[in-house]
Amino acid sequence: MEYVELGKTGFKVSVIGLGTWQIGTKLWGWGTDYNESDAIATVQQAIDLGVNFIDTAEIYGGGKSEEVIGKAISGRRDEVFLATKVWLTNLSYDKVIKAAERSLRRLNVDVIDLYQVHWPNPFVPIEQTMKAMERLVKEGKVRCIGVSNFSVNGLKRAQEALSSEEIASNQVEYNLLNRKIERDLLPYARREKITIIAYSPLAKGILTGKYAPGNVPKDLLRRADILFSSENLKRANKILEVLHEIAERRGKNVSQVALNWLIKEPTVLAIPGAKKPMHVKVNVGAVGWKLTEEEIKKIDEVSNSFKPERLKSYISIPFRLLRFW
Ligand SMILES: NC(=O)c1ccc[n+]([C@@H]2O[C@H](COP(=O)([O-])OP(=O)(O)OC[C@H]3O[C@@H](n4cnc5c(N)ncnc54)[C@H](OP(=O)(O)O)[C@@H]3O)[C@@H](O)[C@H]2O)c1
Repeated sequence: MEYVELGKTGFKVSVIGLGTWQIGTKLWGWGTDYNESDAIATVQQAIDLGVNFIDTAEIYGGGKSEEVIGKAISGRRDEVFLATKVWLTNLSYDKVIKAAERSLRRLNVDVIDLYQVHWPNPFVPIEQTMKAMERLVKEGKVRCIGVSNFSVNGLKRAQEALSSEEIASNQVEYNLLNRKIERDLLPYARREKITIIAYSPLAKGILTGKYAPGNVPKDLLRRADILFSSENLKRANKILEVLHEIAERRGKNVSQVALNWLIKEPTVLAIPGAKKPMHVKVNVGAVGWKLTEEEIKKIDEVSNSFKPERLKSYISIPFRLLRFW
Protein backbone atom coordinates (compact mmCIF):
# COMPACT_ATOMS: atom_id res chain seq x y z
CA MET A 1 0.00 0.00 0.00
CA GLU A 2 1.09 3.59 -0.54
CA TYR A 3 0.31 6.42 1.87
CA VAL A 4 -0.08 10.20 1.50
CA GLU A 5 -0.38 12.99 4.02
CA LEU A 6 -3.98 14.00 4.74
CA GLY A 7 -4.03 17.76 4.06
CA LYS A 8 -1.36 19.35 6.23
CA THR A 9 -2.17 17.21 9.24
CA GLY A 10 0.94 15.04 9.31
CA PHE A 11 -1.27 11.90 9.33
CA LYS A 12 -0.52 9.31 6.66
CA VAL A 13 -3.49 7.69 4.96
CA SER A 14 -3.67 4.94 2.36
CA VAL A 15 -4.24 6.12 -1.23
CA ILE A 16 -6.94 3.47 -1.50
CA GLY A 17 -9.37 3.70 1.37
CA LEU A 18 -12.57 1.81 2.08
CA GLY A 19 -16.00 3.34 1.44
CA THR A 20 -18.73 1.84 3.59
CA TRP A 21 -22.00 3.33 2.40
CA GLN A 22 -22.91 -0.22 1.36
CA ILE A 23 -22.57 -1.51 4.92
CA GLY A 24 -25.88 -1.47 6.73
CA THR A 25 -27.93 0.09 3.98
CA LYS A 26 -30.82 -2.25 3.52
CA LEU A 27 -33.74 0.12 3.25
CA TRP A 28 -36.61 -2.08 2.14
CA GLY A 29 -34.89 -3.06 -1.08
CA TRP A 30 -33.56 0.43 -1.73
CA GLY A 31 -30.15 -0.36 -0.37
CA THR A 32 -27.62 -3.01 -1.14
CA ASP A 33 -27.57 -6.77 -0.52
CA TYR A 34 -25.54 -6.15 2.63
CA ASN A 35 -24.64 -8.96 4.98
CA GLU A 36 -22.97 -8.26 8.34
CA SER A 37 -20.42 -11.06 8.38
CA ASP A 38 -19.28 -10.19 4.84
CA ALA A 39 -19.06 -6.54 5.88
CA ILE A 40 -16.87 -7.35 8.89
CA ALA A 41 -14.66 -9.63 6.78
CA THR A 42 -14.38 -6.86 4.17
CA VAL A 43 -13.19 -4.27 6.70
CA GLN A 44 -10.71 -6.75 8.20
CA GLN A 45 -9.43 -7.75 4.77
CA ALA A 46 -8.86 -4.08 3.99
CA ILE A 47 -6.83 -3.57 7.18
CA ASP A 48 -4.83 -6.75 6.48
CA LEU A 49 -3.90 -5.30 3.07
CA GLY A 50 -2.69 -2.01 4.55
CA VAL A 51 -5.80 0.08 3.94
CA ASN A 52 -5.96 2.39 6.95
CA PHE A 53 -8.48 4.98 5.71
CA ILE A 54 -12.01 3.81 6.49
CA ASP A 55 -14.84 6.17 5.68
CA THR A 56 -18.34 6.00 7.10
CA ALA A 57 -21.15 8.41 8.09
CA GLU A 58 -23.87 8.65 10.71
CA ILE A 59 -26.45 8.48 7.92
CA TYR A 60 -25.22 5.19 6.38
CA GLY A 61 -27.74 2.54 7.30
CA GLY A 62 -29.06 4.91 10.01
CA GLY A 63 -25.89 4.31 12.08
CA LYS A 64 -25.53 0.62 11.23
CA SER A 65 -22.41 1.20 9.12
CA GLU A 66 -20.65 2.89 12.07
CA GLU A 67 -21.73 0.07 14.41
CA VAL A 68 -20.45 -2.67 12.11
CA ILE A 69 -17.16 -0.85 11.58
CA GLY A 70 -16.83 -0.48 15.34
CA LYS A 71 -17.13 -4.27 15.65
CA ALA A 72 -14.78 -4.93 12.73
CA ILE A 73 -11.94 -2.74 14.04
CA SER A 74 -12.22 -3.88 17.63
CA GLY A 75 -8.68 -4.71 18.84
CA ARG A 76 -7.16 -3.02 15.75
CA ARG A 77 -7.95 0.64 16.44
CA ASP A 78 -4.34 1.78 16.00
CA GLU A 79 -4.20 0.31 12.46
CA VAL A 80 -7.06 2.50 11.27
CA PHE A 81 -7.59 6.16 10.39
CA LEU A 82 -11.30 6.47 11.02
CA ALA A 83 -13.37 9.02 9.11
CA THR A 84 -17.06 9.66 9.67
CA LYS A 85 -19.53 12.41 8.81
CA VAL A 86 -22.22 14.51 10.40
CA TRP A 87 -25.44 14.73 8.37
CA LEU A 88 -26.71 18.07 7.06
CA THR A 89 -29.65 18.27 9.47
CA ASN A 90 -27.25 18.13 12.43
CA LEU A 91 -25.05 21.13 11.66
CA SER A 92 -26.11 23.54 14.40
CA TYR A 93 -23.61 23.86 17.29
CA ASP A 94 -25.38 21.58 19.81
CA LYS A 95 -26.39 19.03 17.21
CA VAL A 96 -22.82 18.62 15.93
CA ILE A 97 -21.60 17.89 19.46
CA LYS A 98 -24.39 15.38 20.08
CA ALA A 99 -23.96 13.72 16.68
CA ALA A 100 -20.23 13.26 17.29
CA GLU A 101 -20.94 11.69 20.66
CA ARG A 102 -23.40 9.26 19.10
CA SER A 103 -20.88 8.36 16.38
CA LEU A 104 -18.16 7.76 19.00
CA ARG A 105 -20.51 5.41 20.85
CA ARG A 106 -21.52 3.48 17.73
CA LEU A 107 -17.92 3.22 16.52
CA ASN A 108 -16.91 2.27 20.06
CA VAL A 109 -13.82 4.50 19.97
CA ASP A 110 -12.53 7.50 22.00
CA VAL A 111 -11.64 9.68 19.05
CA ILE A 112 -12.73 10.19 15.42
CA ASP A 113 -9.67 10.76 13.23
CA LEU A 114 -11.48 12.79 10.57
CA TYR A 115 -14.88 14.34 11.22
CA GLN A 116 -16.53 15.63 8.05
CA VAL A 117 -19.54 17.81 7.29
CA HIS A 118 -21.42 15.48 4.92
CA TRP A 119 -23.19 18.17 2.85
CA PRO A 120 -23.32 21.94 3.25
CA ASN A 121 -26.57 23.29 4.67
CA PRO A 122 -27.31 26.86 3.56
CA PHE A 123 -29.80 27.27 6.42
CA VAL A 124 -27.21 26.77 9.16
CA PRO A 125 -24.36 29.29 9.45
CA ILE A 126 -21.09 27.47 8.83
CA GLU A 127 -19.56 29.42 11.77
CA GLN A 128 -21.78 27.43 14.19
CA THR A 129 -20.75 24.11 12.68
CA MET A 130 -17.05 24.92 12.63
CA LYS A 131 -17.11 26.29 16.19
CA ALA A 132 -18.51 22.95 17.33
CA MET A 133 -15.91 21.10 15.26
CA GLU A 134 -13.11 23.05 16.98
CA ARG A 135 -14.58 22.31 20.39
CA LEU A 136 -14.54 18.59 19.52
CA VAL A 137 -10.85 18.88 18.54
CA LYS A 138 -10.03 20.72 21.81
CA GLU A 139 -11.81 18.03 23.82
CA GLY A 140 -9.80 15.32 22.05
CA LYS A 141 -12.89 13.74 20.46
CA VAL A 142 -11.86 14.60 16.90
CA ARG A 143 -8.36 14.78 15.37
CA CYS A 144 -8.95 16.48 12.00
CA ILE A 145 -11.78 18.42 10.39
CA GLY A 146 -13.02 17.76 6.87
CA VAL A 147 -15.95 18.59 4.63
CA SER A 148 -17.77 16.84 1.83
CA ASN A 149 -19.57 18.07 -1.28
CA PHE A 150 -18.23 21.61 -0.75
CA SER A 151 -17.49 24.03 -3.60
CA VAL A 152 -14.36 26.22 -3.63
CA ASN A 153 -16.38 29.07 -2.10
CA GLY A 154 -17.86 26.78 0.52
CA LEU A 155 -14.38 25.55 1.39
CA LYS A 156 -13.12 29.12 1.76
CA ARG A 157 -16.05 30.01 4.02
CA ALA A 158 -15.51 26.89 6.13
CA GLN A 159 -11.81 27.69 6.50
CA GLU A 160 -12.54 31.29 7.46
CA ALA A 161 -14.96 30.09 10.12
CA LEU A 162 -12.18 28.14 11.86
CA SER A 163 -9.95 30.00 14.27
CA SER A 164 -7.20 27.51 15.11
CA GLU A 165 -7.74 24.46 12.85
CA GLU A 166 -7.50 23.90 9.12
CA ILE A 167 -9.74 21.96 6.74
CA ALA A 168 -7.87 18.75 5.95
CA SER A 169 -10.02 17.37 3.15
CA ASN A 170 -13.04 17.66 0.91
CA GLN A 171 -14.86 14.44 -0.05
CA VAL A 172 -16.43 14.76 -3.49
CA GLU A 173 -17.50 12.65 -6.43
CA TYR A 174 -14.61 12.09 -8.80
CA ASN A 175 -14.21 9.37 -11.40
CA LEU A 176 -13.67 8.92 -15.13
CA LEU A 177 -17.35 9.63 -15.82
CA ASN A 178 -17.43 12.75 -13.65
CA ARG A 179 -14.42 15.06 -13.83
CA LYS A 180 -16.17 18.31 -12.89
CA ILE A 181 -13.83 18.98 -9.97
CA GLU A 182 -10.91 19.39 -12.36
CA ARG A 183 -12.29 22.82 -13.36
CA ASP A 184 -11.68 24.62 -10.07
CA LEU A 185 -11.83 22.42 -6.97
CA LEU A 186 -8.88 20.17 -7.77
CA PRO A 187 -6.49 23.04 -8.66
CA TYR A 188 -7.59 24.87 -5.51
CA ALA A 189 -7.08 21.78 -3.34
CA ARG A 190 -3.64 21.25 -4.85
CA ARG A 191 -2.64 24.85 -4.06
CA GLU A 192 -4.03 24.79 -0.53
CA LYS A 193 -2.86 21.24 0.30
CA ILE A 194 -6.39 20.01 0.97
CA THR A 195 -6.84 16.32 0.21
CA ILE A 196 -9.57 15.36 -2.23
CA ILE A 197 -11.25 12.17 -1.07
CA ALA A 198 -12.77 10.78 -4.27
CA TYR A 199 -16.11 9.10 -3.66
CA SER A 200 -17.81 6.85 -6.21
CA PRO A 201 -14.35 6.36 -7.76
CA LEU A 202 -15.71 3.41 -9.76
CA ALA A 203 -18.77 5.43 -10.86
CA LYS A 204 -20.92 3.36 -8.47
CA GLY A 205 -19.70 0.13 -10.04
CA ILE A 206 -19.91 1.05 -13.73
CA LEU A 207 -16.11 1.30 -14.05
CA THR A 208 -15.74 -2.30 -12.89
CA GLY A 209 -17.12 -3.23 -16.30
CA LYS A 210 -19.76 -5.57 -14.88
CA TYR A 211 -22.81 -3.47 -15.76
CA ALA A 212 -24.28 -3.02 -19.22
CA PRO A 213 -27.65 -2.12 -20.74
CA GLY A 214 -30.10 -4.75 -19.44
CA ASN A 215 -27.70 -5.79 -16.66
CA VAL A 216 -27.98 -3.20 -13.91
CA PRO A 217 -27.56 -3.48 -10.10
CA LYS A 218 -30.41 -4.98 -8.06
CA ASP A 219 -30.79 -2.07 -5.63
CA LEU A 220 -33.38 0.56 -6.48
CA LEU A 221 -31.05 3.43 -5.61
CA ARG A 222 -28.77 2.68 -8.52
CA ARG A 223 -31.57 1.45 -10.81
CA ALA A 224 -33.24 4.82 -10.41
CA ASP A 225 -29.99 6.64 -11.06
CA ILE A 226 -29.80 8.20 -14.55
CA LEU A 227 -26.15 7.11 -14.68
CA PHE A 228 -27.40 3.54 -15.08
CA SER A 229 -29.71 4.35 -18.01
CA SER A 230 -29.07 2.17 -21.08
CA GLU A 231 -27.88 5.23 -22.96
CA ASN A 232 -25.32 6.18 -20.30
CA LEU A 233 -24.07 2.61 -19.96
CA LYS A 234 -23.63 2.54 -23.73
CA ARG A 235 -21.69 5.84 -23.64
CA ALA A 236 -19.55 4.64 -20.69
CA ASN A 237 -18.69 1.53 -22.65
CA LYS A 238 -16.39 3.59 -24.88
CA ILE A 239 -14.26 4.35 -21.82
CA LEU A 240 -14.44 0.76 -20.65
CA GLU A 241 -13.11 -0.43 -24.01
CA VAL A 242 -9.97 1.68 -23.55
CA LEU A 243 -9.61 0.56 -19.92
CA HIS A 244 -9.96 -3.09 -21.00
CA GLU A 245 -7.28 -2.71 -23.61
CA ILE A 246 -4.83 -1.15 -21.13
CA ALA A 247 -5.78 -3.61 -18.39
CA GLU A 248 -5.11 -6.58 -20.63
CA ARG A 249 -1.73 -5.26 -21.68
CA ARG A 250 -0.70 -4.48 -18.09
CA GLY A 251 -2.10 -7.68 -16.52
CA LYS A 252 -4.63 -5.68 -14.44
CA ASN A 253 -8.38 -5.39 -14.49
CA VAL A 254 -10.49 -2.39 -15.46
CA SER A 255 -11.29 -1.30 -11.87
CA GLN A 256 -7.58 -1.22 -11.09
CA VAL A 257 -6.86 0.92 -14.14
CA ALA A 258 -9.73 3.33 -13.29
CA LEU A 259 -8.50 3.70 -9.69
CA ASN A 260 -4.85 4.01 -10.71
CA TRP A 261 -5.81 6.88 -13.02
CA LEU A 262 -7.40 8.69 -10.03
CA ILE A 263 -4.57 8.24 -7.55
CA LYS A 264 -1.86 9.37 -9.99
CA GLU A 265 -2.65 12.79 -8.53
CA PRO A 266 -1.00 13.07 -5.06
CA THR A 267 -3.83 15.31 -3.76
CA VAL A 268 -6.38 12.54 -4.37
CA LEU A 269 -7.19 9.40 -2.45
CA ALA A 270 -9.98 7.07 -3.55
CA ILE A 271 -12.53 5.29 -1.38
CA PRO A 272 -14.11 2.54 -3.48
CA GLY A 273 -17.12 1.02 -1.76
CA ALA A 274 -16.88 -2.69 -1.16
CA LYS A 275 -19.17 -5.30 0.31
CA LYS A 276 -16.99 -8.36 -0.19
CA PRO A 277 -13.37 -9.10 0.79
CA MET A 278 -12.67 -9.96 -2.86
CA HIS A 279 -13.60 -6.40 -3.94
CA VAL A 280 -11.00 -5.01 -1.55
CA LYS A 281 -8.34 -7.42 -2.78
CA VAL A 282 -8.95 -6.29 -6.35
CA ASN A 283 -9.11 -2.58 -5.48
CA VAL A 284 -5.78 -2.50 -3.64
CA GLY A 285 -4.25 -3.89 -6.85
CA ALA A 286 -4.60 -0.33 -8.15
CA VAL A 287 -1.49 0.50 -6.14
CA GLY A 288 2.18 -0.28 -6.78
CA TRP A 289 2.37 0.48 -10.51
CA LYS A 290 1.94 3.51 -12.76
CA LEU A 291 0.07 4.20 -15.99
CA THR A 292 2.39 5.53 -18.70
CA GLU A 293 1.98 9.08 -20.08
CA GLU A 294 0.61 7.56 -23.27
CA GLU A 295 -1.96 5.44 -21.42
CA ILE A 296 -3.08 8.46 -19.38
CA LYS A 297 -3.47 10.48 -22.59
CA LYS A 298 -5.65 7.77 -24.14
CA ILE A 299 -7.84 7.55 -21.03
CA ASP A 300 -8.11 11.36 -20.83
CA GLU A 301 -9.17 11.64 -24.45
CA VAL A 302 -11.98 9.12 -24.23
CA SER A 303 -13.21 10.19 -20.77
CA ASN A 304 -13.21 13.89 -21.67
CA SER A 305 -15.57 13.13 -24.53
CA PHE A 306 -18.06 11.34 -22.20
CA LYS A 307 -21.24 13.42 -21.94
CA PRO A 308 -23.90 11.74 -19.81
CA GLU A 309 -27.58 11.79 -20.63
CA ARG A 310 -29.17 13.92 -17.88
CA LEU A 311 -32.56 13.92 -16.20
CA LYS A 312 -34.80 16.45 -17.92
CA SER A 313 -36.37 17.46 -14.59
CA TYR A 314 -36.91 16.20 -11.08
CA ILE A 315 -40.46 15.29 -12.10
CA SER A 316 -39.10 12.28 -13.93
CA ILE A 317 -37.55 10.72 -10.77
CA PRO A 318 -40.79 9.18 -9.40
CA PHE A 319 -41.58 7.82 -12.86
CA ARG A 320 -38.17 6.23 -13.14
CA LEU A 321 -38.68 4.66 -9.71
CA LEU A 322 -42.14 3.40 -10.65
CA ARG A 323 -40.67 1.58 -13.62
CA PHE A 324 -39.03 -0.80 -11.16
CA TRP A 325 -41.78 -1.07 -8.58
N1 LIG B 1 -19.77 12.04 0.78
C1 LIG B 1 -20.76 11.66 0.03
O1 LIG B 1 -21.75 12.38 -0.20
C2 LIG B 1 -20.71 10.29 -0.58
C3 LIG B 1 -21.60 9.91 -1.59
C4 LIG B 1 -21.49 8.64 -2.13
C5 LIG B 1 -20.53 7.77 -1.66
N2 LIG B 1 -19.67 8.15 -0.66
C6 LIG B 1 -18.64 7.23 -0.14
O2 LIG B 1 -17.88 6.71 -1.21
C7 LIG B 1 -17.88 5.28 -1.17
C8 LIG B 1 -17.78 4.73 -2.55
O3 LIG B 1 -18.75 5.27 -3.42
P1 LIG B 1 -19.89 4.39 -4.10
O4 LIG B 1 -20.19 3.23 -3.27
O5 LIG B 1 -20.98 5.34 -4.45
O6 LIG B 1 -19.27 3.96 -5.50
P2 LIG B 1 -18.02 3.14 -6.04
O7 LIG B 1 -17.00 2.97 -5.03
O8 LIG B 1 -17.67 3.81 -7.30
O9 LIG B 1 -18.69 1.74 -6.42
C9 LIG B 1 -18.98 0.84 -5.42
C10 LIG B 1 -19.66 -0.41 -5.96
O10 LIG B 1 -18.85 -1.05 -6.93
C11 LIG B 1 -18.83 -2.45 -6.72
N3 LIG B 1 -17.42 -2.81 -6.54
C12 LIG B 1 -16.47 -2.22 -5.77
N4 LIG B 1 -15.29 -2.80 -5.95
C13 LIG B 1 -15.49 -3.79 -6.84
C14 LIG B 1 -14.65 -4.75 -7.45
N5 LIG B 1 -13.36 -4.81 -7.17
N6 LIG B 1 -15.19 -5.62 -8.34
C15 LIG B 1 -16.48 -5.57 -8.66
N7 LIG B 1 -17.34 -4.69 -8.11
C16 LIG B 1 -16.84 -3.81 -7.23
C17 LIG B 1 -19.62 -2.77 -5.48
O11 LIG B 1 -20.98 -3.10 -5.56
P3 LIG B 1 -21.82 -3.98 -6.51
O12 LIG B 1 -21.15 -5.31 -6.55
O13 LIG B 1 -23.17 -4.04 -5.89
O14 LIG B 1 -21.83 -3.23 -7.79
C18 LIG B 1 -19.78 -1.41 -4.82
O15 LIG B 1 -21.01 -1.24 -4.21
C19 LIG B 1 -19.18 4.94 -0.43
O16 LIG B 1 -19.15 3.67 0.14
C20 LIG B 1 -19.21 6.02 0.61
O17 LIG B 1 -18.36 5.70 1.69
C21 LIG B 1 -19.75 9.39 -0.14
